[in-house]
Amino acid sequence: MAALHGCGSDDSSSSSNTASNNPPATTPTPAPDAATASANIQAAWVEIGDGNQALARVVTRYTAEAGAGANAQCPLLTVDGKAARMTLRVGPATAPLRTTASAAADSKPSEFPVSVCEATLPAGAASAAIGAQVLPLPKATPQRIVVLADTGCRLKKADNAWQACSDTEAWPLASLAATAAGFNPDLVLHIGDYHYRENACPPDIAGCQGSPWGYGWDTWQADLFKPAAPLLAKAPWVVVRGNHEECARAGQGWARFLDTRPYDATRSCDDPANDAIANYADPYAVSLGGGSQVIVFDSAKAGKAALATNDPQFIAYQKQFQTVATLAAKTGMTTTIFTNHHPILGFAPVAGANPAPGNLALQSVMSNLNAQAYYPTGIQLALHGHVHDFQAINFASAHPATIVSGNGGDNLDVALPDPLPAGSVPAPGTTIDRITHHASFGFLVMDRHASPATGWQFKAYTKAGKLLATCDQTGNTLTCDKTGFLTP
Ligand SMILES: [Fe+2]
Repeated sequence: MAALHGCGSDDSSSSSNTASNNPPATTPTPAPDAATASANIQAAWVEIGDGNQALARVVTRYTAEAGAGANAQCPLLTVDGKAARMTLRVGPATAPLRTTASAAADSKPSEFPVSVCEATLPAGAASAAIGAQVLPLPKATPQRIVVLADTGCRLKKADNAWQACSDTEAWPLASLAATAAGFNPDLVLHIGDYHYRENACPPDIAGCQGSPWGYGWDTWQADLFKPAAPLLAKAPWVVVRGNHEECARAGQGWARFLDTRPYDATRSCDDPANDAIANYADPYAVSLGGGSQVIVFDSAKAGKAALATNDPQFIAYQKQFQTVATLAAKTGMTTTIFTNHHPILGFAPVAGANPAPGNLALQSVMSNLNAQAYYPTGIQLALHGHVHDFQAINFASAHPATIVSGNGGDNLDVALPDPLPAGSVPAPGTTIDRITHHASFGFLVMDRHASPATGWQFKAYTKAGKLLATCDQTGNTLTCDKTGFLTP
């Protein structure tokens, strides 16, 4: 104010108390932007794509006037004080019923009465917000990463599996996500299987009454965006695709909401004729800075059986693993973490029997490329979900340490036998040194070792935040403070 008064040429003719007699003109408040109103925004998050692009995404119920242009559905994104309208990724639609993993009588068209909007955040942005909702920004060298997987509530007729979605003990994602957010991660890694509400809850099952089902927005909102909101608000996510997000299951939602690539009808999973394209994706690396990187691999459609070399699926995964080898060969890396949904050198427990090995489809492709090394040179650690437990495996053979973190909310698997039966191996040619495991709901917190050390420390927590095990990774060695089965 002093500067303004000083500039005035007619101060002498004014009263000495100018401010009280002549209130300074105020800039008119712009009309609130309806597309940015918080009531319309159903979800907002940031995910990291190829080349470390920070992709801001929004799900909105706002519908602009006819003729206003596609992007008029989208809110304003304010980055470092400058507001710009986000770009429409895909508008509302109801996809015609396609073949699904369920019988036609237990399926329905996927309704998406929402628009998905997006914008790429500029590198080095210091702040980003949609209205009053502040978005988390990526850090060049994240120090702490939360890892979780297999988080949805299982409603599946074929298995007669009806998880009690409204019981926060039986399906704990909301409390687990809130606990994990309390660790203040710089980044979140979700290793797949976000959506589990596939079929209608039967009338005689109390725990899931009223749950949405099928593959539309309502199920994605209930299974992921609502319960995980505190964790989506806390840090950008790296998103890995699970088998529940293959095209015949929740692939349509994957393509609309989470796939880091531009939305494309061929990859939308709407038309089964394109599934051979839409069920696969090129791997990409996310730099974690300081000599660490994560390679993200889409194994959504990997089946259980070994593949013949002339199988189109073999050829697709072979191409993907060739790209992995190129990414893993990047110079200057001390810790390359491979992540995909299905455990490759991990176990799947079987009630009353010896545990099953890792995924045979992926192993068949990997052994064809790299013999019994399986992984290409340069990978120190593998992170997976899919099996609903926690496993931390250190090999006596020269294989990447392997961690499974699939205990994020869906029904848990039975515990692995303890001790493991003699000779148990996840793949021919591997030798287990030590395994640490538990079968309780929880998540992992990864903390970067202080320089000049390399690698990461992994802490396995229960959903309530109780520490169960601490494992230190350096190179392909993983050393845990406990071994065998852990009870919470
Ligand atoms: Fe899975």
